[in-house]
Amino acid sequence: MQSKITAVRGSALTFVADPFLTAPENAFRYETDALIIMENGKIKSFGSFDSTKALLPSDIEIKTYRDSLILPGFIDTHIHYPQTQIIGAYGKQLIDWLNNYTFIAEQQFKNFSYAKSVAQFFLEECLKAGTTTVMTYCTVHPESVDAFFEAATEKNMRVIAGKVLMDRNAPPELLDTAQQAYDQSLALIKKWHGKDRLSYAITPRFAPTSTHEQLTLAGTLWSEHPGTYMQSHLSENLGEMAWVKELFPKSIDYLDVYDHYKLLGNRAVYGHGIHLSEREWQRLSETKTSLAHCPTSNEFLGSGLFNFPAAKKIERPVRVGLATDVGAGTSFSQLQSMNESYKIAQLGGFALSSIHAFYLATRGAAESLDLMNTIGSIDAGMEADLLVLNLNSTPLINFRMKHCKDIEEALFIQMTMGDDRATQAVYVAGALAYEKGL
Ligand code: GUN
Ligand code: ZN
Repeated sequence: MQSKITAVRGSALTFVADPFLTAPENAFRYETDALIIMENGKIKSFGSFDSTKALLPSDIEIKTYRDSLILPGFIDTHIHYPQTQIIGAYGKQLIDWLNNYTFIAEQQFKNFSYAKSVAQFFLEECLKAGTTTVMTYCTVHPESVDAFFEAATEKNMRVIAGKVLMDRNAPPELLDTAQQAYDQSLALIKKWHGKDRLSYAITPRFAPTSTHEQLTLAGTLWSEHPGTYMQSHLSENLGEMAWVKELFPKSIDYLDVYDHYKLLGNRAVYGHGIHLSEREWQRLSETKTSLAHCPTSNEFLGSGLFNFPAAKKIERPVRVGLATDVGAGTSFSQLQSMNESYKIAQLGGFALSSIHAFYLATRGAAESLDLMNTIGSIDAGMEADLLVLNLNSTPLINFRMKHCKDIEEALFIQMTMGDDRATQAVYVAGALAYEKGL
């Protein structure tokens, strides 16, 4: 079979280290005129055009992007595809928002064809925003997982997803039992995990909606299937935290609930992590558990401010990936997540640079998912998921860019004012998956 080769040329930027832990100027590689050759879904070579052009077979056409920046596709480490239909729902804070909107919307996902149509729309929105990988929650219904994985397979996207587990404190239509949660998740792992570019995440929604029995079985299932993921929510909201304390009086703190059930470790990804003690930061770091930082959601639900200096303390750093948390998050665009993350960091006395922010949505997110050797960077051998960002996507950005002195400032302008209008093109596994105007 003839191997499929594509090639793109333009300026390109990728990360080689964590800028929170090394000098930011040493954390990235920037090529002003790069050539990226992709073959059979992977990056075959990446370098300056002059040094790389000889590697390209003469019959392959190069697609050249001007006034653009080629980046690794964005990765969204925490999102709820069934909540696409409730984005921007007015109201109070987390628990009311769950009861008034989320738990109503999620009931519709028992219907496979409905779920499939939402999954397809959702993935189109992700690609339009430049996001090529998501780690998403489905609903309690196995149909919602089948629908999502089918839709992702049709787009050949690398995704992580799982059935939500809830056996208390939600409407009866959304409840399973501890045993059903185990059996259905096991069947879904067997059906989908490791197939094409799909990975399974065991997904207890959060401590208040699972019993002792359900959390125990979730831990058992995870230990029985190395390589699968664990995802849940942690310390998002003060009311939620008081509730957890009431439900689990013997636990030292919120994180300790998950620790007790053996739900911490590499490939465990917890949304939010806003109100954490030093003990919890320590424990996240030593167990290599990741956090998904969800800035637009944290502002929208009035949850609180993520603490970057605490998360990235040099003696005990915690892996953090950027996330939208749609539908509590208000945009699919990781540029908008970066914009709000910068403001949150500022309110906490930390000036998040553009290098930090773009790292969190690419290589940093990949590290938080234990996928840094697979996605999130532009390098030979990595899967070829790329975003071509138009650096002049609106008249105001175009005007502002005329007064821009270097790449770090250019990135900062994009993250402050850019959104999905800046997505020029997206490549998934080496194939053009989205192009503006088509
Ligand atoms: N905590 C438990 N479930 C959810 C959810 O769906 N969204 C958010 N933001 N927090 C949660
Ligand atoms: Zn969430």
